Amino acid sequence: MPTFACSMEDPLEIQADALAIACFKDEDSYSLGPGASEVDDASEGGLSAFLDRLKYKGEKGEVALFPFSLEGRSDLVIVIGVGEREKVNPQVLREVGATLARRSKKFNSVVTTIHDSGAEVATADAVRAVVEGVMLGGYEFLKYRREPEPSDLSAVIFGGCEPCNEAIAYGTAVGSAVNWARDLVNEPAGRQSPAKIAETIKALSKDAGLSCEVWDSKRILKEKLGGVSGVGAGSVNEPRLVKLEYKPSGGVESKICLVGKGVVFDSGGLSLKPAEAMETMKTDMSGAAAVAAAMSALSNLDVRAHVIAFMPFVENMPSGSATKPGDVLQFRNGKTAEVLNTDAEGRLILADALVLASDEEPAAIVDLATLTGACMVALGYKIFGVMSNDDDLAGDLLVAADEAGERGWRLPLPADYKKQIESEIADMKNIGSRYGGALTAGLFLEEFIADDIPWAHLDIAGPARSEADEYELPKGGTGVGVRTLLTWLVGIGEKVAD
Ligand code: BES
Ligand code: ZN
Ligand code: ZN
Repeated sequence: MPTFACSMEDPLEIQADALAIACFKDEDSYSLGPGASEVDDASEGGLSAFLDRLKYKGEKGEVALFPFSLEGRSDLVIVIGVGEREKVNPQVLREVGATLARRSKKFNSVVTTIHDSGAEVATADAVRAVVEGVMLGGYEFLKYRREPEPSDLSAVIFGGCEPCNEAIAYGTAVGSAVNWARDLVNEPAGRQSPAKIAETIKALSKDAGLSCEVWDSKRILKEKLGGVSGVGAGSVNEPRLVKLEYKPSGGVESKICLVGKGVVFDSGGLSLKPAEAMETMKTDMSGAAAVAAAMSALSNLDVRAHVIAFMPFVENMPSGSATKPGDVLQFRNGKTAEVLNTDAEGRLILADALVLASDEEPAAIVDLATLTGACMVALGYKIFGVMSNDDDLAGDLLVAADEAGERGWRLPLPADYKKQIESEIADMKNIGSRYGGALTAGLFLEEFIADDIPWAHLDIAGPARSEADEYELPKGGTGVGVRTLLTWLVGIGEKVAD
């Protein structure tokens, strides 16, 4: 993991393997960001001539490597395009930071001036965004490579920068949390189980100042979590329910509950998925991973809200003991559901967890779940769906997502679609018609929110995985939701303080 530092020294005087500088789109080379004109002067116009010859445009993410050797100075310049000057914002800077990390993997240290790119972003915010980008873009999951070649980048130094230690600490905390979630998601299901994940989270909680409770299958039955038991019934690896609690020291103003879907592997159960659809189903615990990861960063970010998280972990497997299509499960609040498709299992375990959250009588409940393929059909790989019974909460989460560099889009919860989940024999059934599947899943969940508590459901089925390395997102588990949750929760504290 890289470390970060700020130095007031002239960036060209700092010893490092490379110097990374910014270049805006279509500006003449003398108005490149700070650092560039100095390099250009020192190379007697060499840098601008070189960029001209390359027909370098400065498009976002466009990189040029310029060999440059002066005693006591960096001997390689990495020019990173940031796109149009007016469009620079924290997310662009995260993307530039990620590009820096990817292009610096072979270096031990890089000096950069990218925090001060002449844009309308305050230095501290820029440092924070670049740190996040470097942390996220430099992520690698190498555990199962026989000959791993880990990145050598160990230090990024912001040259010519006022001390911004708080911003560095913030960006590092967010980046570490997201990368922790990615590790958990990328771990193969065969090396994982509900019990092992619960242990991993328990270990995390100790370092993060959280209290942690783990319920085993006996306790789960005793607490009447019939959805969790029913979905877990087909696997030799028994389910677990993990509760994490964060209580800030000093005043607590509002209580928030988080819920995350933790299906360690989703085979579909007896309603077995086809082979291809099963390939990525170790990812089906991304909601719980994001929630646990966000919890782990709350004390570092000094969040002022009291936050309680519930994460049900199960394996959805077919076997002689598995729940069968047509079976009826009863949840913690007494409601029943007819399970017509055992592959619609997420809503069944979330139902119990949402009742547990409702029992806490919080000011808001937010759940994250890789819930439906239908949400991916609607919004694609990069955007999560937001369904909510509360316009303010939905709005706040969408604003937080935008600030954090993640993308959500509101979807409706049409009351008349509830007809689709009426059952012949139980209070509801677990599937609706073929169309609008993300919405009927959301409507199912809404049945477990007590007393109109403001609640939002984030269907992250699409963005939980990335199909390619793209800026701060690596191929595989993305840790989506961590950034949005943290930005939202930090914001709640700030609102209270105002
Ligand atoms: N885990 C899946 C949803 C999913 C699909 C997540 C693709 C990520 C990528 C969920 O449990 C599921 O199988 N949902 C079914 C519901 C259907 C049977 C009503 C689906 O979306 O097909
Ligand atoms: Zn499923
Ligand atoms: Zn699932």
